[in-house]
Amino acid sequence: MIDLHTHILPKADDGPDDLAEAVEIAKESERQGVKKIIATPHYVEGEYQFGPDEIKKRVVALQEELARAGVELEVLVGSEVYLTADLGKKVRDGLVTPLNGSRYLLVEFPMRKLPSFVDEVLYDLQVLGFTPVIAHPERYHDVMEDPNLLYRWVKDGALAQLNAGSLLGKFGSRVQETAEILVEHDLVQLLGSDLHSNGYRCQCLQGGMAKLCELIGVSRAERYQANAELVVADEEVVVEPKRYEKEQGFWGRLKKAVYG
Ligand SMILES: [Fe+2]
Repeated sequence: MIDLHTHILPKADDGPDDLAEAVEIAKESERQGVKKIIATPHYVEGEYQFGPDEIKKRVVALQEELARAGVELEVLVGSEVYLTADLGKKVRDGLVTPLNGSRYLLVEFPMRKLPSFVDEVLYDLQVLGFTPVIAHPERYHDVMEDPNLLYRWVKDGALAQLNAGSLLGKFGSRVQETAEILVEHDLVQLLGSDLHSNGYRCQCLQGGMAKLCELIGVSRAERYQANAELVVADEEVVVEPKRYEKEQGFWGRLKKAVYG
């Protein structure tokens, strides 16, 4: 498996404190069947701002340490970039690191209230030749209220990445319900762990994949890993999102049955 959302680089953000902890996390990922991992440290202005060269340097250092520890996991470069109005400029200036240096850029939105410039920034990125990958949309309040926001973004060319833990209820029942809606309507195309440690923000890709199989069957679930391979190879991911129709109450169902 490929895990394309991880905070495994030591001292790069709120992930592990040192290389030893990162190695322990990598061992657990390997145990779960992960072969490739994309290191996606946060890029948040004024807080974490490692550029591509620094991330590459740290990935190489981690890869060397893993080889010494006998861990065969391959680590690739990436970042998780916090949405700002000038994100297009940051990309143009080469400040942020796409997933494995591909066209795909992992973008995190604010949890509580989406800013008015979301659509504009997603458009800017695509004009520059990048495909935004919306990180864990199921955790955003506005998406929980209206899952069809994602229908529009994906129709307009973005992809979306679900957290495995969301499917397993690790972020609460509302996030879990939203995750299930997004999966059932193909509004998300990628699965990642968003791991930060072996503890509370742990990796659970294996459990997430099992849950996906339960929800949509093995062949549809396998598309998530096939899509991850396409992202790593910088190839096109084909999307087929479906609009979410809110379940109607008794009178709504009756009306639909009578009037169609
Ligand atoms: Fe993350």
